Amino acid sequence: MPKLTVKIGELELKNPVILASGTCGTELAKFTELKKIGAIITKSVTLDPMLGNLPPRTVEVYGGMLNAIGLENPGVRQFISQKLPEWLTLGIPVIASVAGKTKAEYIEVIEKFESTKISGFEINVSCPNIEEVEFGKNPDALLELTREIKKVTKKPIIIKLSPNVSDIQKIALAAEQGGADAISLINTIYGLKIDIKTKTSILGNITGGLSGPCIKPVALYYVYKVLEVCKIPIIGMGGITNTQDALEFLVVGASAVEIGTWNFVNPNIGVEIVDGIEDYCTQKGIDDINELIGSRRF
Ligand SMILES: Cc1cc2nc3c(=O)[nH]c(=O)nc-3n(C[C@H](O)[C@H](O)[C@H](O)COP(=O)(O)O)c2cc1C
Repeated sequence: MPKLTVKIGELELKNPVILASGTCGTELAKFTELKKIGAIITKSVTLDPMLGNLPPRTVEVYGGMLNAIGLENPGVRQFISQKLPEWLTLGIPVIASVAGKTKAEYIEVIEKFESTKISGFEINVSCPNIEEVEFGKNPDALLELTREIKKVTKKPIIIKLSPNVSDIQKIALAAEQGGADAISLINTIYGLKIDIKTKTSILGNITGGLSGPCIKPVALYYVYKVLEVCKIPIIGMGGITNTQDALEFLVVGASAVEIGTWNFVNPNIGVEIVDGIEDYCTQKGIDDINELIGSRRF
């Protein structure tokens, strides 16, 4: 049996397959053997409850989908008291995704989670659907945010980056310099879909975030560019639909992958990819997944 264990800072995962924020929940346990997954990430949680954007909030597009959910969530207090206990029964590491409009909001949410049994944080600094400052676009602000977060938690911090920036390397370096344990990318890419009959946008929020198979080449490119400058582990995501896709990210150098949109198409996809990676390693005589990570020949 090949060894599939990977380390994301201090966090050890039994395999490199993670279910991405906003695309999975405890209800998945009815459809798949969630215990086989490396880790699962919550929908982004904010300090106060958020109702989200006007419907329609999602629409299918060629090769993927657009979403403009608008961070709908019950707020951190209610999430911890009413939802988290069920997440923690899943028997796999639960990573809390945190979002906020201000530094103080991020810090307060993290402080509230600190005494719970979650395994780490993924910091969403890039939600394209809220019209506030995006920390993910400003290296100085991101460095400062990451530093402040590290002061209030002992748990591993993953900074999740947006592709909607002109220099991803600067942003990634800021996260690393701020003390991030890992970087994950990419979040969704800005997008728009028009109803030609009414000449309006299909989404209630007008614009949304593009995800799914059509963004995979962009995601791989960003992972590659960030690996050029950062030393901390990188978690790759964007358009993964099968084992082959996941292997591409690992070979480029991602230490783990996240599966998003495809959970809606096939709720068993995470488990299939775990099994597929194991089979691939066995067939290729790879004893340890770390031999595969970053094994690209360019
Ligand atoms: C419906 C939907 C909701 C999402 N909600 C969140 C969220 O709350 N926080 C976050 O960081 N990313 C969120 N994402 C982004 C995904 O986690 C992921 O970064 C993105 O979809 C790219 O991966 P994919 O192509 O495999 O879906 C959401 C994506 C979708 C499709």
